[in-house]
Amino acid sequence: MRVLSGIQPTGRFHWGNYFGAIRQYIDLQFEEAAFYFVANWHALGTVREPASLRGWTFDAAIDLLALGLDPQRAVLFVQSEVPQVSELCWILMTGAPMGLLERCHAYKDKKAKGLPADAGVFTYPVLMAADILAYDSDTVPVGEDQVQHIEVCRDLAASFNHHFGEVFKMPKAKLLDVSKKVPGTDGEKMSKSYNNTLEVFEDPKAQRKKRPMEQPKEPDGDHLFQLYSLVATDAEREAMATLYRRGGFGYGEVKKALADAAERFFAEPRAKRAELAADPKRISEILDDGAARARRKAEEVLNRAKRACGLV
Ligand code: TRP
Repeated sequence: MRVLSGIQPTGRFHWGNYFGAIRQYIDLQFEEAAFYFVANWHALGTVREPASLRGWTFDAAIDLLALGLDPQRAVLFVQSEVPQVSELCWILMTGAPMGLLERCHAYKDKKAKGLPADAGVFTYPVLMAADILAYDSDTVPVGEDQVQHIEVCRDLAASFNHHFGEVFKMPKAKLLDVSKKVPGTDGEKMSKSYNNTLEVFEDPKAQRKKRPMEQPKEPDGDHLFQLYSLVATDAEREAMATLYRRGGFGYGEVKKALADAAERFFAEPRAKRAELAADPKRISEILDDGAARARRKAEEVLNRAKRACGLV
């Protein structure tokens, strides 16, 4: 069984990315053959600054490795290093019904807001389908917002197979566990667009300054307590809950405890990240090796598809 997923390099990773997705991808590498890639073609739709796109692509790879992705177990690569996928994307584009793509939310939401949409947004799900089908993926772990795109992928694969014979393996979406929903520093969902994120690898000193001041209440409904629970030990969490309920302590103490626990929780990845970042050659080697392995698989699937529809 092969698990595959892509992560867009549109900025630095925050706690929502880590607890909501990345940590689960990393756990899956121990269960199944895993392919993970940095989706820089998709990000090009929104990141229009070459230095940022390049930097965030590289940072995403370093962050994943620092957080425990093992390049011996999982194949880690950059999307655009596998051009076979864009060829497959074109093949899938023919036969992708306009109506199907018009219903996809990335495009639909833009239209609804009256924002200009380009062909990249419109055909985004087709590229995603190519990403998935190119590697004979079985399982695609994604957040709720991407489930629709996996359905499109299955539709495109089924219709191609129906017309040209059994070429593509049928993938299944695997919903990421969202029980650990990560609140932002203001209590809303953590998201870059709300400007309420805590970056995984931000300088701890900068992070301490970001915590907002609010009145403490019951621990269970309190977003700082929720954030604390993500990085504290069970014993620390219990002790903090007692403090919350007892009251009569400064809210600043919670923030300090959160910063301390976070620093401890991410200490090892942070050290590993520093080591990796100091050795860009090693990162390039890992990504080159991953891309070579990914290309081998994609080439095989692409040839199957081309033969089936008469392109060779
Ligand atoms: N569109 C996905 C996102 O924004 C990223 C992505 C690109 C992806 N290709 C993929 C995810 C293929 C899973 C499979 O999150």
